[in-house]
Amino acid sequence: GVVPLTEILSGAFEERYGVPAINVFNDLTMEAVLAAAVERSSPLIVQTSVKTVKSIGGDVLWAMWTAMTAGIEVPVTLHLDHCPEREVISECLRLGWNSVLFDASKLPVEENMRQTVEVVAEARRYGAAVEGEIESITGVEDDIGSETAAQQQELAVALEFLRTTHVDVFAPAIGNAHGSYKQAPVLDAQRVSDLVAAHPVPIALHGGSGLSDDQFRDLISRGCAKVNISTALKETFMKSGLAFLESAAERQKWDPPSLFRSVRQDVVDMTGSLMTLFGSAGRA
Ligand code: 13P
Ligand code: ZN
Ligand code: NA
Repeated sequence: GVVPLTEILSGAFEERYGVPAINVFNDLTMEAVLAAAVERSSPLIVQTSVKTVKSIGGDVLWAMWTAMTAGIEVPVTLHLDHCPEREVISECLRLGWNSVLFDASKLPVEENMRQTVEVVAEARRYGAAVEGEIESITGVEDDIGSETAAQQQELAVALEFLRTTHVDVFAPAIGNAHGSYKQAPVLDAQRVSDLVAAHPVPIALHGGSGLSDDQFRDLISRGCAKVNISTALKETFMKSGLAFLESAAERQKWDPPSLFRSVRQDVVDMTGSLMTLFGSAGRA
């Protein structure tokens, strides 16, 4: 069923497996990732970007979510990804999103902290959870973020943020980036261990697309319980559609539902592979 983010993350954090947090952008992708969770008996975090909320409409997304999760048996949860806009946070919480990432990483840490305290109080009124971020993750995604390399804060600053705000998940910059990596990233995995040792809170690994299996396994073993994936899904979606449309036989028919079926299957398979790799498969 639909459960709080904290319920999904506490098991994953304790037992050191990762739960895919996948950015969906339409009905097909939302349905396909949920189908993968059922197929692999895996918990799942479904995320929407602010851009998706604005383009589809929060109310439409919410209607899709409630219809598609009615009667689902594996634990799933709906999360709002990187959101600097307080009104969008409030709208999603009001509609029923289970958690939000308040992304005030562009603000000075003091102001970020002050506003995050407010967002946590607001979310708690709905029984919802909050992810916090003080270092803008490198790379623009769905119009949010910046191309300049993330500036890591002192560990003490991150710990003060965690202790003051009581966020449920923390998203540190560790050399990770949104989008596909131009060269293999050098990750500061020790940062994850240091954070978790000093303040045991589940860590969100952003920029998941493009990391190696070994990098995923290592970071998950250190406490990255939420593993964000966006670009890989977009790529799977586009490549699958392209391959299908390039097939001459299919072009003769011009039958949209068969295109959707084909793309859906590739999205289900990609999501399922991640669940197996992250160790969430079989945990539901
Ligand atoms: P990727 O697009 O690199 O998978 O990053 C996803 C992400 O961090 C969403 O918040
Ligand atoms: Zn991110
Ligand atoms: Na990435």
